[in-house]
Amino acid sequence: MGEHTLLFVDDEENIQRSLQRVFRKEGYNLLTASSGKEGLEKVVQTKVDLILSDQRMPGMSGVEFLREVRKTSPDTVRIILTGYADVQAAMDAINQGEVYRFITKPWNDQDLKLTVKRALQQRDLVLENRRLNELTRKQNEELKELNRDLEKKVQERTKEIRRKNEELSKLYTDLEENFLDSIRVFASLVELRDSYIGSHSKRVAAFSRSIAEKWGLDEKEVLDVEIAAILHDIGKIGISDKVLAKSYEEMGQEERRVYEQHPIIGQASIQIIDNLQEVGVLIRHHHESWDGTGYPDGLKEDGIPLGSRIISAVDAYDTMLNRRKYTQRVTRFQVIERLKKGRGVQFDPEVVNIFLELLEVKEIEAAERVEIRIALDQLEEGMILARDLYTSKGILLIPKDEVIRQAHIDKIRNYHRIDPIVGGVYVYKPEATGEV
Ligand SMILES: [Fe+2]
Repeated sequence: MGEHTLLFVDDEENIQRSLQRVFRKEGYNLLTASSGKEGLEKVVQTKVDLILSDQRMPGMSGVEFLREVRKTSPDTVRIILTGYADVQAAMDAINQGEVYRFITKPWNDQDLKLTVKRALQQRDLVLENRRLNELTRKQNEELKELNRDLEKKVQERTKEIRRKNEELSKLYTDLEENFLDSIRVFASLVELRDSYIGSHSKRVAAFSRSIAEKWGLDEKEVLDVEIAAILHDIGKIGISDKVLAKSYEEMGQEERRVYEQHPIIGQASIQIIDNLQEVGVLIRHHHESWDGTGYPDGLKEDGIPLGSRIISAVDAYDTMLNRRKYTQRVTRFQVIERLKKGRGVQFDPEVVNIFLELLEVKEIEAAERVEIRIALDQLEEGMILARDLYTSKGILLIPKDEVIRQAHIDKIRNYHRIDPIVGGVYVYKPEATGEV
């Protein structure tokens, strides 16, 4: 605890001197004062560890003086020196906590030294104890503060992680959508060269998806069917324009042999893309026939993958309904009759049944819609065509039920300049369809 400072307060100089003599060799720092007033000044100036004060002094008594010391320096040990006559006053002071103890005059030097030594030891213990308590309290406070900070940081990190997760799942959704968009663009490139009109693969994909869903396939399987439907004719990239310009019925034997390669080329061309292996298989078999007479592998009935059976029926339906060549086109009624006849021959009967149900619902929906005739320049994006749109030379520009997009409007205007569209355009009345 270092060197202790003792202060002796007495108006009699000989007492001060004898006290100094007693403690000279004890290793203390010694101070003296001849009155309470002077003693108080010393206590303010210096840190005093212990005071020995006489009781009887002019001006301020010892007890009064020590009472003041207690106010300004409560940790200073206060001992009073008193004659027998003043013992009562000293005891009262002890009881009031103002004085540590009293020593009667004349004192025994050894007793006095021992008393001072023990008093200081006890005080040092109390101070050390208090210091340790204070330290513990401070450390606890710091720990609490750290915990609060930590909790805050954990909360912030959790929020951050949650935000990142949301970003990731949005990114993933975007990626999936971009992927489907890319596939659609890819497929439409093939259709530029083919004898279909409009967005054949898009329509085949929409119906195939609905049938797959109605069949009860899980989400991944439905998506595979949809992607395969979009890409089913991608293999036509490898077939010459001369062959593609003809319908299957018009092709010669060699041309058919070449044409029948397109499902295999289709499978091969997407085989390199991860996760499209299943899709590749569905594409390979989209021209198989229920009775085993199809190509390329002559698979039969349940041996044909379900997705391929679905795409086969929808593909045939849309191809018959939307041929580019006017003369080869048949009515919707005739197409449905051919689908029905093909049940159990070319097509999976169950697939056709589900497909017919879907078409029926669509027919009912269509029947409820009111068609109106509008002028060509009234055509707007989002309108739905109620009738096939032909040029005056009989070229089908857009099939019925297509939702009009800006690209359609541009196409119509371009054609109109060289091959006019007469008699306006039939669309469904927006109020009746619920679409604008
Ligand atoms: Fe095909």
